[in-house]
Amino acid sequence: MSETIDTLLQENRKFAPSAEFVAQANINDATIYESADSDWQGWWTSWAEKLDWFKKWDTVLEWEQPFAKWFTGGKINACFNAVDRHVLAGRGDRVAWIAEGEPGDQRVFTYADVLTEVQKLANALKELGIGKGDRVCIYLGQGPELCLSMLACARIGAVHSVIFGGFSAQSIAERVNDQGAKLIITADGLWRRGKVIGLKKIVDDALDLECPTVEHVLIHERVGVVGHVTNGMAAPDYDRGMAIPGRDVWWDEIVELQSAECACEEMDSEDLLFILYTSGSTGKPKGIMHTTAGYLTGTSATSKLVFDLKDSDVYWCTADCGWITGHSYVVYGPMANGVTQVLYEGAPDTPDKDRFWRIIERHGVTILYTAPTAIRTFMKWGEEYPRGCDLSSLRLLGTVGEPINPEAWIWYQEVIGGGRCPIVDTWWQTETGAIMITPLPGIVSTKPGSATRTFPGVSATIYDEDGNDLVKTHGIPVGGLLVLNRPWPSMLRGIWGDEERYRQTYWSKFSDAYFAGDGAKLDEEGYFWLLGRVDDIMLVSGHNISTMEVESALVDHHSVAESAVIGKTHDVKGQSVAAFVILKGHVSPSEELKQELRAHVATKIGALARPDDLFFTAELPKTRSGKIMRRLLRDIAEGRVMGDVTTLADPGVVAALKGQYEDKEG
Ligand code: WTA
Repeated sequence: MSETIDTLLQENRKFAPSAEFVAQANINDATIYESADSDWQGWWTSWAEKLDWFKKWDTVLEWEQPFAKWFTGGKINACFNAVDRHVLAGRGDRVAWIAEGEPGDQRVFTYADVLTEVQKLANALKELGIGKGDRVCIYLGQGPELCLSMLACARIGAVHSVIFGGFSAQSIAERVNDQGAKLIITADGLWRRGKVIGLKKIVDDALDLECPTVEHVLIHERVGVVGHVTNGMAAPDYDRGMAIPGRDVWWDEIVELQSAECACEEMDSEDLLFILYTSGSTGKPKGIMHTTAGYLTGTSATSKLVFDLKDSDVYWCTADCGWITGHSYVVYGPMANGVTQVLYEGAPDTPDKDRFWRIIERHGVTILYTAPTAIRTFMKWGEEYPRGCDLSSLRLLGTVGEPINPEAWIWYQEVIGGGRCPIVDTWWQTETGAIMITPLPGIVSTKPGSATRTFPGVSATIYDEDGNDLVKTHGIPVGGLLVLNRPWPSMLRGIWGDEERYRQTYWSKFSDAYFAGDGAKLDEEGYFWLLGRVDDIMLVSGHNISTMEVESALVDHHSVAESAVIGKTHDVKGQSVAAFVILKGHVSPSEELKQELRAHVATKIGALARPDDLFFTAELPKTRSGKIMRRLLRDIAEGRVMGDVTTLADPGVVAALKGQYEDKEG
């Protein structure tokens, strides 16, 4: 990569928060940035003080790069902070969860209900031989039992590791064995698009692959119970008779019998809270480790300020607890703030494409946090779905997971937010534990496509390949590699069982900073614009061009719903731009349109970025968390043998794309 990344796409729109929003915001004093920066340990300490401790810490931070310890000497419990303390403060009647299953079943839990259920479950885990430090894998659909399982583990000091419901038997076995889990918590199944995914059968397949450390499987009967009461629902493919005696235990046969009293384990600040696996584009999944006090501090502070959480809110983060977003912004951060939230089990298009908007209307959701891939899908489906619902309860919108294209941002703001809701575009990672770059909605004016500024107390800058801080040597605007150059409380503490890989992956490229793996630019006002993974940045005729910018230029065209851009090896230019384009519902592909889109990119960005190849497609290959698999598109574009596609949401998509590419080449 050459020294800096060229800043090509210009986006000049800027939106200040309304006076009304500012007046009621949890924070609206911009001096917070300087004061947090000048005493960042003091800033984080002020947030740690808002948590409930059995014993306060002795030392705020012990930092021996790359190993951080926060709030050492302290004793604390994450479940206590998410649940008990609200009940003890007389707020047990507050609704914690409004849970909707895909078939339409609804359950409401107050904080007092959660406390009862979590204690019974915690006692059941103990009866199954689980204690402090033991690892428990959780393989469930999004819903109360998934959150309860995480909280029950935290309560007794067991380490949870959630595996997204839908991963294969192979992936489960790999994760279970890597951490030596003693227990798997699962269900007979979950619903996705009206069909049952038989979770327990998949777990059985995983166990058949040899998982010697697993002693028990705890099974929640979800599909069986709802299936019986919901006429016409798909029948469960797993029933009680199939459980293996001694190993498999049904939830209602053990949990219901337990006492509803189970004291919280007093955990050290640095005791492990959970392991969550992330799959990089190469190598086996990394078990990212997060510990207790710092993680809670980071997630509770960011929840409160970024989402402006109030007692009057009905908050909905659409992420599944199989991902870090569900850990930090469904369970720990929001619940530490005593929020009322929606949990939804299923797909956004079941029974129809307005399901999300119906949920918002039904429950009066005020804050929505979702992903750009979902927003682009909603754009493709058309405005009529949200327009047909009352979304007037919404007051704040958030996104996470990928760079959001300016056009998708504007659509989100206008069609979903009715032009009145600030948008918080939040940049962070499984590894960072909590949001790192984001607007504070009562302070920062937003620009479509920019995650704006670091959260108070967080420090980020832009390096070149040699580790020079380009902001210092070059000034702004500038583009390059995003690094975090100061420790933060919710940072990962390592990779389970592989200290060397931890050093190598995050701390070896630069001697003095955490390398996030993303490219970013800082504009003339010091706003961060995330450009995607560095591996996704193209080098065309000696210029670094971000795939994200070309994608945004394409999506800017009125006929385009979504696009994925990659750099294809080229004899002369080094790389040439290849684009895969999904058109909006009513538009048909044509040669003229292809030329028009190529020209559109040239006009928006420059001739340099004009795609040499442009393909129309109905779908794009995505990982299960919704990220476009550019690596695979590169393989397809360059006619290579396909790489590992086991994490692909729909492998058929790739075959179709490949066929199209081969036709052209032939
Ligand atoms: C990308 C998800 C641009 C980025 C919380 C990061 C983003 C990776 C944004 C982490 C954003 C996440 N703008 N890019 N607002 N949020 N990313 O571990 O490439 O699933 O490194 O964590 O997602 O993905 P992960």
